[in-house]
Amino acid sequence: MNSYDIIYIFPKTTLPLQCNNSGVIMSLNIKEIRKDFPILSRKIRGKRLVYFDNAATSQKPIQVINAIKRFYEEFNANIHRGLHTLSQESSELYETAHDIVAEFINASGREEVVFVRNTSEALNLVAMTLGFHTLSKGDEIIISIMEHHSNILPWSNLAKRVGAKLKIIDITPNYMLNMEMLEEALSEKTKIVAITHMSNVLGTINDIKRISKIAHEYDAFVVVDGAQSVPHMPIDVKDLGIDFLAFSGHKMLGPTGIGVLYAKKEILEDIPPFLLGGDMIREVHCDLEGNCWAKWNDLPWKFEAGTPNIVGGVGLAEAIKYLKRIGMNNVRNHEMDLTGYALQRLNEEIGDQIIIYGPKEIEVRGGIIAFNLVNMDPHVVALYLDEYGIAVRSGFHCAQPLHERLNLKNGSVRASFYIYNTHDEIDYFVNALKEILRKQNS
Ligand SMILES: Cc1ncc(COP(=O)(O)O)c(C=O)c1O
Repeated sequence: MNSYDIIYIFPKTTLPLQCNNSGVIMSLNIKEIRKDFPILSRKIRGKRLVYFDNAATSQKPIQVINAIKRFYEEFNANIHRGLHTLSQESSELYETAHDIVAEFINASGREEVVFVRNTSEALNLVAMTLGFHTLSKGDEIIISIMEHHSNILPWSNLAKRVGAKLKIIDITPNYMLNMEMLEEALSEKTKIVAITHMSNVLGTINDIKRISKIAHEYDAFVVVDGAQSVPHMPIDVKDLGIDFLAFSGHKMLGPTGIGVLYAKKEILEDIPPFLLGGDMIREVHCDLEGNCWAKWNDLPWKFEAGTPNIVGGVGLAEAIKYLKRIGMNNVRNHEMDLTGYALQRLNEEIGDQIIIYGPKEIEVRGGIIAFNLVNMDPHVVALYLDEYGIAVRSGFHCAQPLHERLNLKNGSVRASFYIYNTHDEIDYFVNALKEILRKQNS
């Protein structure tokens, strides 16, 4: 048994799927899943915690917590630097984590998986390397109005610095990406199309496969912000046909401080590195005249300068193993079910006192519900909900341009679901909102 087996094998205390007699998966066994998340038994203000802030960050199962603890207890050493056993084992764990990520998103191999801190860093990396390497004055970059600030600012900065034009695609009245506008915006001048897979406010799931196809007709690079999609649905980068995918470990049961940039191997080989320093080079030479030159390391290490977040990689790999045991189709189905149920209950119980943003069709939206209660500030609603032990986010959710487009000066309240959330929690949430409205209107 090698070190990889040792750290990743945890007793299968839970069987999170419920099967019928013929072994076909019927639904997730949420009761069992919840037992894996210690924080869910916490009380907030004397009430049970209802965690509906998953779009900001997810909670962590005991398997991930244990993998992190065990790494420090048994394997901790710097990677790619020592011949001693610990360094070899630690390197192997970290490298294998890249393989696990690659398989999860159907990348060709570890050389297409760069570990970064988070989605924001991954998108900045692309703008700073591909962007400066390929764009010049008069070129065009396309994004959409539903982007998170992390998929706006790197591109607007790049556009300003190279003299390129930033084009922003609008949404339709049903909160979908305006595909006609996108098709009209594309031209020979388009060099990059950077679009979110799932809006972190509207929940809208964009048709990335189609976007990729039409953008590639103009030879534009397709960069996808997968911060909200990778944790919640099956992702196949080859099927999507994209060039880059950015996502964060902390939103998918993993630790903070670890994120991923997927990119096609031939592109990563072609573009310059982002950060320079240790481990990303093969050799460095300097003469006393002050001339230095270096040969870059193999992929993906060329893009991972300095001591990386080793334990973060180990934790992310364990999170992916957990998600794979459940099955990403089951994760998606569970969240579709929760979202459909929540929308129905909110409409039935609160009706004209609530405004919900996002597409009506459940098939094109993820487990995110942004809303406002009529005549109530979103932050006030969030604070009231906290009194019930319900964690939601309020404000602009790092998507201020979208809120401005929707004319929402104070933002919105956002409830977002994950594998451990239940119908029962949604009922409690709807009742809490009803009580808040009753108090407000009395
Ligand atoms: C769609 C989207 N993009 C990017 C980000 C940024 O992620 P991170 O803060 O992990 O860099 C988020 C985080 O909420 C997000 O929802």
